[in-house]
Amino acid sequence: MSTFSNCSLQSIQQAALALCKGNLVAFPTETVYGLGADATNEKAIARVYEVKARPLGHPLIVHISDISLLDKWASDISESAIKLARAYWPGPMTLVLPRTNLAKDFITGSQDNVALRIPSHPVALELLKEFEKQGGLGVAAPSANRFGKLSPTTAAAVEMGLGKFLSNADQILDGGASKVGVESTIIDCTNALPVILRPGAVTVEMIEEVLDVELDRASAPSKEIKASGMLTSHYSPNAKVYLSGAPSPGDGYIALSDLPTPAGAVRLASPKDNEEYAQILYESLRSADSKGLKNIFVVPPHNQGVGVAINDRLRKSSYNQD
Ligand code: TXA
Ligand code: MG
Repeated sequence: MSTFSNCSLQSIQQAALALCKGNLVAFPTETVYGLGADATNEKAIARVYEVKARPLGHPLIVHISDISLLDKWASDISESAIKLARAYWPGPMTLVLPRTNLAKDFITGSQDNVALRIPSHPVALELLKEFEKQGGLGVAAPSANRFGKLSPTTAAAVEMGLGKFLSNADQILDGGASKVGVESTIIDCTNALPVILRPGAVTVEMIEEVLDVELDRASAPSKEIKASGMLTSHYSPNAKVYLSGAPSPGDGYIALSDLPTPAGAVRLASPKDNEEYAQILYESLRSADSKGLKNIFVVPPHNQGVGVAINDRLRKSSYNQD
């Protein structure tokens, strides 16, 4: 029998069964943990909104195990979307595509498109495969956190944030700490030229390389709130996050490892590069809350590679703070 991180095949099969019965399963992906539900079950999806306290109308990402299932959910799939899917799935990328009738309004927020992703985490893939074996078509999964809070990158963080809102029949699969650490890159592929709606570990350079085009880097995503992560204030710990200025003694401090800790500050993380920065970002912001710190001073990373996604999330977690 294969070992799937901390999860046995049997626990994954039980989780797939729970999904089929309309229960919720929080599961690991390489980006962050997701709160999964059968994407065709309106009641199960309603519970996802309830458990997250997420405003209705924010669309959900549907997770599938294989590219062969893509045309169940999406139609008129562009050449660029196919190239991206072949290059970066399974992986930390979500494609927004024109929907089929299977993608109901309660998944898409009544938009004519649907967001799809094939994650690469072995537990996520196995869960999706087992679910599909039992007749399932896709698992809708937002990040497994209360609305506006930090996404969880461990099962313990899911339990802390959502445990009291889940019922006995729901499950949490523990697959270890997420390797990427920030949510997937969301790419709108419904127009001739793809548009990045949310930056992630699949970077603009990686997209350009596969498509052999130059994306319009200057254009901000549409003002319309298609993605709740696009709201200006999001991804927030309880402590206040500052991206400039100097910490006072007792304040939290996060910076790349080559920067020394200012006198009296509490070092929360010292990542060696942008990849490690992304991986530990949410856990280190969260650790400030468990340590009871009021302020966190963060030195943002270089705006390159996954640094673009880190800076995007940092801007949102520091927004509107005095
Ligand atoms: O890495 C990830 O993407 C994680 C893991 C669990 O897969 N999921 C995740 O889901 O971050 P969520 O719901 O927390 O964030 C997904 C974002 C939301 O802001 C949602 O509004 C947006 O994707 N979204 C979903 N469907 C969309 C669509 N059809 N068009 C535009 N944005 C969409
Ligand atoms: Mg989220």
